[in-house]
Amino acid sequence: MSRKIGVKILGTGSYFPKKIITNIDLEKKVKTSDEWITTRTGIKERRISKKNELTSDLAFKASLEALKVTDILPEQIDLILVATITPDMFFPSTACFLQKKLYSSISSQKPAFDLSAACSGFIYGITIARAFIKSGLYKTILLVGAEELSKITDWTDRSTCVLFGDGAGAMILSASDTDDDILATYLGADGSYSDLLFMPAGGTANPATINTVETKLHTIKMDGMHVFKVAVPKMTLAGKKALELSGKKLKDIKLFIPHQANMRIIKAVAKKMNISMDKVFVNIHKTGNISSATTITALDEAIKSGKIKSGDLVELIAFGAGFTWGAAVIRI
Ligand code: ACO
Repeated sequence: MSRKIGVKILGTGSYFPKKIITNIDLEKKVKTSDEWITTRTGIKERRISKKNELTSDLAFKASLEALKVTDILPEQIDLILVATITPDMFFPSTACFLQKKLYSSISSQKPAFDLSAACSGFIYGITIARAFIKSGLYKTILLVGAEELSKITDWTDRSTCVLFGDGAGAMILSASDTDDDILATYLGADGSYSDLLFMPAGGTANPATINTVETKLHTIKMDGMHVFKVAVPKMTLAGKKALELSGKKLKDIKLFIPHQANMRIIKAVAKKMNISMDKVFVNIHKTGNISSATTITALDEAIKSGKIKSGDLVELIAFGAGFTWGAAVIRI
């Protein structure tokens, strides 16, 4: 009889660039106000990386912390997976750049690749990591969500520049005979919404030209209100489905960690799922939306602050460009 492989979450880490841009700072750049941003989004400030500080640098620092917390050596990692929509370059993958930074003194040659699912990237990543471990293919996986959205933001467009930030989070997962910390995940996508939240140029649709640069097509374009309207039902659906698949009830979950895109979305999803806000983790005021880095950095903060402790059940719920959505019920 084949052995059943469980998945243990060994630990997490995170890293944010030092520079903070507040709403008051943004008032000096575009026609906006702290009052508008706070009431419409819940965001007060966001972290912004330096020009020469790359997504792989943030990923590296978050990974070092996760390795330290878990007492795992880089040589013990069998696969590096990075969820990002702001890679250092189109290719090689940010996961390969991260591998180079982690193994500066030894040759790793362990597989490494990126995955692109926008703000749902980390939930997609957990699902992939779980499947790889359960299949017996890899034993220990470093999973990272890392973004520098500031570098694809049009800083003259008030409808998007107030929303995004930079940061990275990391998780180390390993095969286990005794534990199974990922109870369930649920994923979805609908590409018919691809023109509501996207970066038009840089790929094969619109290769870089002087015109694409001059017309700012290498920056985020979004129909915010439309995104909002789809995000709420899809996050609610994902949250309910993953819970159902896990066999757990709302009352069993110690903390819900929704994607931090907009405080009004978070509240609407909590209401639709019938969760009281004291069980919902919120750090959007400090971070803004950091896409695939959001749920993992929020999870890491919840652990560090003592809001959740070993053995607690947590549900991560996300929604992003594509559109993509997903949720995961995990034990930390
Ligand atoms: N400051 C002041 N006024 C502003 C600003 C600003 N920063 N931005 C927009 N406005 C104005 C608009 O021009 C508009 O003015 P008008 O009525 O004179 O035309 C007015 O405010 C209202 O604009 P709306 O876009 O209707 O504002 P809304 O209440 O929808 O809030 C927001 C906009 C915050 C973007 C919201 O729609 C939202 O959060 N949407 C979801 C975004 C999201 O979830 N993204 C997730 C995924 S991100 C990813 O995957 C990378």
